[in-house]
Amino acid sequence: MAKSSDYNMGEFTFPRGWFMIADASELKDAPLPLRFFGKNFALFRGQSGRLVLLDGHCSHMGAHLAASASASIAVHGEQIEGDSIRCPYHGWRYTADGDLDDIPGFDGPCPKAAKLGSYRVEEVMGAIMMWHDPEGGEPEFDPPRLPEWDQPNWINGAYDHLGCLDIHPQEILDNMADSNHLGPTHGSPCEYFENEFDRHLYYQRQGGFRREYDAYLMTFTWYTGPGLLLSRQAIGDIRSIEFIFHTPVEDGMTKVWHNNLLQVAGDAPSEEDRAHAKHHQAEVLAAFGQDFDIWRNKMPALHIMSLPTERNFRLGRTWYRQFYNPRSQSAAFHAQTEGRHVPVHKLEPYEMSLELERA
Ligand code: FES
Ligand SMILES: [Fe+2]
Repeated sequence: MAKSSDYNMGEFTFPRGWFMIADASELKDAPLPLRFFGKNFALFRGQSGRLVLLDGHCSHMGAHLAASASASIAVHGEQIEGDSIRCPYHGWRYTADGDLDDIPGFDGPCPKAAKLGSYRVEEVMGAIMMWHDPEGGEPEFDPPRLPEWDQPNWINGAYDHLGCLDIHPQEILDNMADSNHLGPTHGSPCEYFENEFDRHLYYQRQGGFRREYDAYLMTFTWYTGPGLLLSRQAIGDIRSIEFIFHTPVEDGMTKVWHNNLLQVAGDAPSEEDRAHAKHHQAEVLAAFGQDFDIWRNKMPALHIMSLPTERNFRLGRTWYRQFYNPRSQSAAFHAQTEGRHVPVHKLEPYEMSLELERA
């Protein structure tokens, strides 16, 4: 698998940004062991309801804080005390900030050097998201929150867990600039297509007739940072919002989730509406599966042999590199990408599509 250094991403192996790390429905009373960014983590919900994400391994002798379900204190549900967690091996206790504050049977001071890394986590639209930052800084933008998630005339899907792909996320990001795969891969060649870059935001507007649906499809798609894609879609009178969230697990390996929201006519969705929403989510997922099949079997595109009409690939890659480099360099990446870039233009459908953004 190709790695960040093979793509010349920049100083960091893993990017800065908000990333999905778990489906909120997976996190029950027990702590959850997670692996992302080449590291192990322990995720749990404290008794106050606070979400806590710590380095996975205890400073004492390296036991995993969240991966020993058979240990007695795990079986008896005694690992979590308030918003702190005890290691299942010898019971050392760590606070939500990662400080060691109790060692069973030892009266001396707890060693300060035992402190574990503690990471910012938020629950957003049924997903647990962490702020990952190689520089250890505070978030420089917020994760996306769709108003539709809480509106009664929208049906929220459950997350599809698509597992790990043996590819670098760069290959997934390339899809945003890829006007020419829409026909051969998805059966809906675009009539208009453009990208726009605005600091940590990367937009795509496109539309065209989709053969599988026998209808005109318009999409307005955007990344909030490097790992969270949302896409407002209109096919005939159907309105939906697709989610594609992806997070590096190792250098060159990426975990992917998918979801879909569907608008319904009234404020109280019927059983029939719910069945339709499930069916629609499966259809949208199948379209994403067309990309997945390509990614699973392709060679890494370390250098794209891009045509003059495909310069958005280079722009998209430049935009993405801001997250692999110190934030002090972000402005230089923005200066190279900012604004609208329009490889395929047709005015009338483009103007109609702007409705999607006002939704
Ligand atoms: S390894 Fe965690 S308390 Fe000993
Ligand atoms: Fe695609």
